[in-house]
Amino acid sequence: MSDAYHAVPAELRLDALWKPFTANRQFRAAPRLVVGAEGVHYRAADGRRILDGCSGLWCVNAGHGRREIVEAIQAQAARLDYAPAFQMGHPGEFRLAERLAAMAPPGLDHVFFVNSGSEAVDTALKIALAYHQLRGEGTRTRLVGRERAYHGVNFGGLSVGGIGANRRLFGPLLPGVDHLPHTHHPEHNAFSRGQPAWGAHLADALEDLVALHGAGTIAAVIVEPMMGSAGVYLPPVGYLERLRALCDRHGILLIFDEVITGFGRLGAAFAAERFGVVPDLMTVAKGLTNGAVPMGAVLVSEAVHRTFMEAAATPIELFHGYTYSGHPLACAAGLATLGVYEDEGLFARAAELAPAWEDAIHALRGRRHVTDLRNLGLVGAVELEPRPGAPGARGFEAFLRCFERGVLVRVTGDVIALAPPLVIERAHIDELLGVLAEVLETID
Ligand SMILES: Cc1ncc(COP(=O)(O)O)c(C=O)c1O
Repeated sequence: MSDAYHAVPAELRLDALWKPFTANRQFRAAPRLVVGAEGVHYRAADGRRILDGCSGLWCVNAGHGRREIVEAIQAQAARLDYAPAFQMGHPGEFRLAERLAAMAPPGLDHVFFVNSGSEAVDTALKIALAYHQLRGEGTRTRLVGRERAYHGVNFGGLSVGGIGANRRLFGPLLPGVDHLPHTHHPEHNAFSRGQPAWGAHLADALEDLVALHGAGTIAAVIVEPMMGSAGVYLPPVGYLERLRALCDRHGILLIFDEVITGFGRLGAAFAAERFGVVPDLMTVAKGLTNGAVPMGAVLVSEAVHRTFMEAAATPIELFHGYTYSGHPLACAAGLATLGVYEDEGLFARAAELAPAWEDAIHALRGRRHVTDLRNLGLVGAVELEPRPGAPGARGFEAFLRCFERGVLVRVTGDVIALAPPLVIERAHIDELLGVLAEVLETID
C-alpha cells in the first residue's frame, strides 16, 4: 500500500481518540481518513475519490453533501439552536413526526424521537414493557430477540441482540431474555436471489418459548426484518408473516428494528411495506436524516399509544426521554431528507435498480473464496470462506484492498456488505463490483 493512502494532515495526533468498533492499534499505525464527500463519493485525506459502497454506515441513502439538507441545518441553527425536549416544544418536531407517520405503514401513527438506533431500540423495549403494565398484564416482562441480531450497543439492545462478541464482556445483561434461532443456513439457502425459499418454519421457535414460559410472560419480540450488521441475512419467504401471526395469537408485541431497512434500502419506504407485515412498534435512525445529524425514532401503533394516553395514572405518561430528543437541527435535517427522498422518488429508484444490482452481485458466483451471495433491494452481501484458524482475516484484507483501490465496503467477519446510496448509477455498480471481483483474485 502506498504511503499516500495513509496520509494524515501534519497537525493531527491520533492517540487521544478511542474509536468505536475499530481496531484502534492497527488503525493508528495505518489510518484511513476521509475529509470530504459528495454524491456517491468520499474524498480521502490524500485527495483520492472513494466510491461509497455502504452509504457511510448504511445511513447516507440520498448521497453525500445534499444541498437541501445542508441549507436546512444551517438555517435552523441560526433560527433556533435548541429547545428543551421536556415540557416544551418547537414546530419542527411536530412537522417531522407527522411526515414520518404519513410515510410509515398505516397504523403506526405516533413518533417518539431519540438520537440513535441504540436509543430507539431501548426506548421501544421500555415502551413495550410499560404498555403491558398499563394494561394490567404486568407479568409480561420477557423479551425475545434473535441469534446474530444487532440492535445497537445499549443494555436493552445488547440483551436482545445475538452477536457474541458484542455481549461477552458486559456481564449478565437484562434478565428474562430469549433468542429465536437465526435464519442463515447455507446448506438450504446459499446463493438465493432475494428472500430464501427455505426457513419460514424457524419462526415457530416462538411457540416453543410460549410453551416453556407461558404467553402471559412475554412482552415483545424484536427482529430486524432483514438482518444487516451481522452479515445481511434475509428473512425466508413467509417468516415474518408467521412471526406476526404468532405474536397476534399470543398477545405479544412485534417490534421491527428498521434502523438499516428504513428509508428505501429495500426499495420501499420501510421493510414493513416491502414485506407487507406491519409491526406494533418500529425503530428507525440512520437514513432518517441521511446521516447528517444524529437522530432516531420509535414509531408506535395507535393501540399502544392510546393505552398510554388513557391508562397512565401520572400526568407524564412515559418517564423516558433524552435531552436531545427531537433536536431542532435533527428535525430540520430529517424534514429536508424526507423531502429529497420524496421529490426524487428515491425509494422507487432503489426498486428499479434492484434487478441490475442483483445480477451484478450474483455475477461474483464462482469467484475465488466466495461461498454465498445475498441481495435484496440495494443491499448485497458477499460471503467469503474464512482462512483456516483466522476468521475475519480474509474479509478485512478485502476491505483494505478495496479502499486502496478507491472503493469503500463494509466488512463483518468474512462477509462483505454492500449498501450504496440510492442515487448510485449503473456505472458505479459496475465499478463497485468490478473492484471487488479483482480484489478477490488478489488475496489469499
Ligand atoms: C438494526 C440496527 N439497530 C440498531 C442499530 C444501532 O444504531 P446506532 O449505531 O445509531 O446506535 C443499528 C446500527 O447499525 C442497526 O443496524
